[in-house]
Formats: sequence, C-alpha cells, structure tokens
Amino acid sequence: MKNFDQLCCEKCWHTPQNPCEHFIQCCTEGPLCHSDEKCRIEISSLRKRLRYEEHELPIIIIGMGTCGLASGAGKVKEAIQEELKKLNIEAIVESTGCIGYCAVEPIVDVKLPGEDRVSYCEIIPKIVPKFLHTVLVEKKIFKEKLLGTHGKTNHDARNINEIPFFEFQRKIVLSNCGVINPDSIDTYLAYGGFKAFDRVVRLMKPEEVIKEISISGLRGRGGGGFPTGKKWELAHKQTADQKYLICNADEGDPGAFMDRSLLESDPFRVIEGMMIAAYAIGASQAYIYCRAEYPLAIEKLQNAINLCERYGILGNNILNTGFSLHIKIKKGAGAFVCGEETALIASIEGKRGMPRPRPPYPVQAGLWGKPTVINNVETFANVPPIIMMGGQEFAKIGTDKSKGTKVFALSGNVKNTGLVEVPMGTTLADVVFKIGGGIPNGKEFKAVQIGGPSGGCIPEHLIDTPVDYESLKEIGAMMGSGGFVVMDEDTCMVDVAKYFLTFIQQESCGKCVPCREGTKRMLEIIERIPQRYSSGKDKNEQLLRFKGMIHLQRLADVIKDTSLCGLGQSAPNPVLSGLRYFREEYEEHLYDRRCSAGVCKELLTFTIDNEKCTGCGICLRKCSVEAIVGEKGQAHYILDEKCIKCGMCVENCRFEAINVN
Ligand SMILES: Cc1cc2nc3c(=O)[nH]c(=O)nc-3n(C[C@H](O)[C@H](O)[C@H](O)COP(=O)(O)O)c2cc1C
Ligand code: SF4
Ligand code: SF4
Repeated sequence: MKNFDQLCCEKCWHTPQNPCEHFIQCCTEGPLCHSDEKCRIEISSLRKRLRYEEHELPIIIIGMGTCGLASGAGKVKEAIQEELKKLNIEAIVESTGCIGYCAVEPIVDVKLPGEDRVSYCEIIPKIVPKFLHTVLVEKKIFKEKLLGTHGKTNHDARNINEIPFFEFQRKIVLSNCGVINPDSIDTYLAYGGFKAFDRVVRLMKPEEVIKEISISGLRGRGGGGFPTGKKWELAHKQTADQKYLICNADEGDPGAFMDRSLLESDPFRVIEGMMIAAYAIGASQAYIYCRAEYPLAIEKLQNAINLCERYGILGNNILNTGFSLHIKIKKGAGAFVCGEETALIASIEGKRGMPRPRPPYPVQAGLWGKPTVINNVETFANVPPIIMMGGQEFAKIGTDKSKGTKVFALSGNVKNTGLVEVPMGTTLADVVFKIGGGIPNGKEFKAVQIGGPSGGCIPEHLIDTPVDYESLKEIGAMMGSGGFVVMDEDTCMVDVAKYFLTFIQQESCGKCVPCREGTKRMLEIIERIPQRYSSGKDKNEQLLRFKGMIHLQRLADVIKDTSLCGLGQSAPNPVLSGLRYFREEYEEHLYDRRCSAGVCKELLTFTIDNEKCTGCGICLRKCSVEAIVGEKGQAHYILDEKCIKCGMCVENCRFEAINVN
C-alpha cells in the first residue's frame, strides 16, 4: 500500500464515487470496519512511513519554499542527487516547505533509519559532498551546519526547539510547516489531517461548530480582529439559496509573507479550515483569492485542491455526508486595495477591484449579492486545531481579549529573519531580541514597524508592549496582518513615512477624493522635508515646507474621517506615529536641515578631514561634477554648492578622510 486511496483488501470498498463516510478516520486510525491484522499492519505502517517513522533507506528532506528556492535549494537538490549517485547510495529525496527560519536557508534534514530527523542549515552545493559523506557514510552529525534534531537532545545535537529562534515560539498554525510534504495529501492525513473536519461533519451541528469557534475567542488575523465566530454566526443565520466562502490570500502589505509561506508549506490545513467554515455557514462554493505574484503558493494550492477532489474530500456529497464544497482559486493582480473585502468581491465578480460602502456587509450581501464570509488564510489555519483541542483550551492561550497565537513575518535589521508564531501577549522585545537575536553589526535598535501601511513605528521605550490587538491600538499601531519590520539606528523615520505614503498613494483606487488627493498632498509635504533649497530651487518651496507641516495633522484627520475604506482611513498612520514618537527627528530635518541617520541625501554635508587627506587625488578624479578641488600631495576640499551627494568620493577614498554628516 503506497497511499490512502488504495484499498487495503477486498473488504474495503471505499472509492471517491462510492465513498465510505469513515474514510478519514480509517486513514488516521483505521482500519475500522474489519479487524484484519494484515490490513491493520499495512495501514499503520503506511502512516509511519509517511511520518518518516519507519523506513529502510535514508531520507533527505529539502526546504523548497520560496525562501529556500531563493537561497538556492533547487541547486542543492541537484547536487545532493548527483552526489548520491557518486556515492552509490540509495536514498529518498523529498521536499518540504519553510520551517520559518528563512535567514539560514537552504535547510536540509536527514533522517537515517531508526534515528532522529536532524536539520542542517545553509547547505550550499559546494559543501554537499562533505555533508553527505559525513551524514551518510560516516553516519555522524555534520556539526558545521547543524541546526538541531527533531528528536531527543544528545551531546552531539540539541532539539531544534531549544534553539532561541524556536524556543520562545508556540507553533499551532505553523506546526506542520517545514515538517510535512505540502504536495502529499497522504502525509497530511498521516499527521492527523482532516480529523477536525471529519469530527465536525459527522458529529457536530453547524451551530455547535460556531459555538466552539466563539468560545475559542478567535479573531480575524487579516488585520481588523473581528470575532470569527460572530462573523460565521451572522452568515449562518442568513437564508439564501447560495452562500459563499472566500479565503483572503491577497497579502498586499509590504513586509508581510506569512500567508504565502503558510499556503506553500501547509495548503491542506487552510483547505480544511475552509471546509469547516463552509459547513458552519452553509456554503457550497468557496474561492481562494491569491495574488498572481505568488505562483508557488498557487501551484501548491491547486495541487492540494486536485488531490482533495481525487480523494473525495472536496466535491459533491463529501464522504457521503450530504455536505458539498467546491473550491476555486481566483488569481488577483496584486493591487493592495483588492485585499479590502468589498473590493475583493468585486474583483472575483470580474469587475475593477474597488471598495463599496458598507452596509450591506458581505455576510448580508456579498459575492453576486449572496451572503458571503471572508476570512484570512491564518484565520482558517487556526480552525482545525481549535476543533481538535476544543475552544476552551485554545482560549487559555494569549491574553484576555486576544486569544491564540499570531504569526509574524520578521524582517529588517534583525539577525534571525523569518516566520515566527508567538502567543498573543508576547512582548515586542521578546520577538526582536529573544527570537530575532537582536540587531546585527553592533547597531542600536530604533523601532519596529508593525501592521504594514496601516500600522506604525513603535519606538524603543515601548518595546515591552505586548502584541495583542488592544495594546497595539493603544500605542497608535495596529496588528495588521503580521508584517514585523525591525529598524536600527541607521533608519530615518521621515524616509520610512515617505516610503509607506508613496506606497499608499500609488495603491489608492482613486474612488474618494480625500484618499486620492489627500495622500498625494501629504506625500508632497513629507517629500519637501528632506529637500535642499539651493540657489537653483524655487524659494517658495521653503515656505511651502513649513506651511505643509502646519496643515499636516488636519489633513491626516480629514483623510481618516472621510475615506471610504480602510486604505484611506489608515493612510496617515505611518506619518502620525512618526510625528508622535519621532518628532525630534522631524524637527531636526525641518529646522536644523540634518538627517542624523545619514539617509536623506540632500541634507548630507560631505567634508574632507585635512589631517587624514594625503592629497592622492582619487576623489577629485572620481567626482563627476567637479565638486572637489586640491593640488596633488595637498589636502583636498569639497565645494558644497556643487556637490550632488552621490557618495562616490567616500567610496573611493582609501584613507577614510571624507566625513558625511
Ligand atoms: C486596504 C486593505 C487591504 C487589506 N488586505 C488584506 C489582505 O491582504 N489579507 C487579508 O486577509 N485581509 C486584508 N484586509 C482585511 C479584509 O478586508 C478583511 O477584513 C479580512 O480578510 C477578513 O478576514 P478576517 O476576519 O479573518 O481577518 C485588507 C483591508 C484593507 C482595508
Ligand atoms: S479610501 Fe482610497 S482606496 Fe479606499 S475607496 Fe477611497 S479612494 Fe479607494
Ligand atoms: S581620496 Fe581621500 S586621501 Fe585622496 S585626495 Fe581625496 S580625500 Fe584626500
């Protein structure tokens, strides 16, 4: 028996066309209907093989998520296969998704028969021969690149969960990521997949499912934090000939990659969450709205949907339960506003993705005017574990009002970038320093940008703030979908505000004037702050710089209060949080014409230190605008009015004689 869609013996009659309603239970616990010892051994041994617990050949498992592939996992796989041939060793080479530790990809696991699975990091093709020789021929731990074991700690290797990056995490949503093969429905079943759906569809009424989700306290992970149970209940109560379910995998926030990684690494989990939601609200058609820029996620999802259909786990009359569900993928063109639920619905309907006023809310009149529930990828991924552990148990994790865990995409100036899952209430400091390993290159921590363009920058004195919906709102940021960008002392907060405003301004759909025009005016004000007003420039601009700053707060309030959708309503947040926590930096730019982070080029001054300058003349020759003067062998000078701040001189001076401030 190679997989679960084969019959164990002639007594087993399950086929997708004539399904046995106990199929899932049979795969995960069976056989059920007959007590044939041979079948029991066969099914249980298949489960063990799929979980890599029972095997005769060595198994090599390569992390092939987008991060792994970007770090060269494809080439590593080729090198491994070639080396295996050279060594004349037979081994099974499998792939998995991302375990979250993106900073140390490519990650390769080795599982020898009867031993623990061991993870190695930063495996590049060059070291593959030495690596394979050590682990397969000498049968030793390759200590140079060891990450940890997935089993017992011993003197050669510690358990992977004892590494600081994993130690402080609690994996519920990501528990399968980087562990299972995302292309294999059999593996998902072997790890207990679809058990939650099985329980729901056979033993629970839709109202009971909704109650369990409500008890769990699960709130939408798409940013707003609306109670999921309540949303489902509202949809359940609607009467309609057709209801729809949508999975929001648009993930437009810059700095966010949680949903992509989850879909690539564990697509069946999201599908199972959707199946439970569809059963609870009474939907028979579902869509996954995923941006076309996520080709790997789309490929994995489509493969997972196809496999579910083949196994009779999706489609009409699923496993003879009377419940039907069809899932289609809708590719989005990657517009940030299409993540907004009403715009997303318009986009699926084939119209331009533009928000519309609510009410009516999608649960009342959504896709093609029918009751529709939209939930985020991570929200759905939380559902199967809630059913399995029970709402009450889930509600014990997290804080009073924010239950469970939150997945963050940790990036920026932090040592351990990647995907982290922490219980709600974990402090920002713990994420940055304990999990993230702190700031690289001996630099100082400056801020955390959380919540994407709708969020804000949190300064050092608030680093002990717990991550939950309320605490973050209180300090002027937002949970958002989970972008977590760490910034060091070399980050200019005016520049950060400019970046987010530029993004927002470009992504505004243009439907309402305050968002379309207001964000443009706001960006102009921010852009004027770091500009230099040399003799060539319009002097009026200098006046406009001060005038703009005076009107900034009022402009922000108007945009917030009068925009139709969340994009406009949160557009001023990056600027407002910047002004709230980094006012001195804004004032320094405005009045002193200085950017102490050294980012705003036009405000920089380049000078040559006479003591250090040897008069070699390299900078003079490299300067494209003849802004440097000096005699050979004597100190050189930079003419500030000619200097275009390109930094060529600094790059080329071998005596570190040029100061920038
Ligand atoms: C401009 C804008 C972009 C959004 N982008 C996303 C997104 O990419 N993914 C997402 O799940 N929710 C996004 N949302 C929130 C959704 O509109 C919606 O609230 C969410 O999908 C509901 O799911 P949840 O209750 O599970 O959070 C966005 C909202 C706005 C205003
Ligand atoms: S707030 Fe902006 S993005 Fe939203 S509808 Fe209005 S113009 Fe479009
Ligand atoms: S390159 Fe450096 S040392 Fe040489 S002239 Fe320029 S500033 Fe002086």
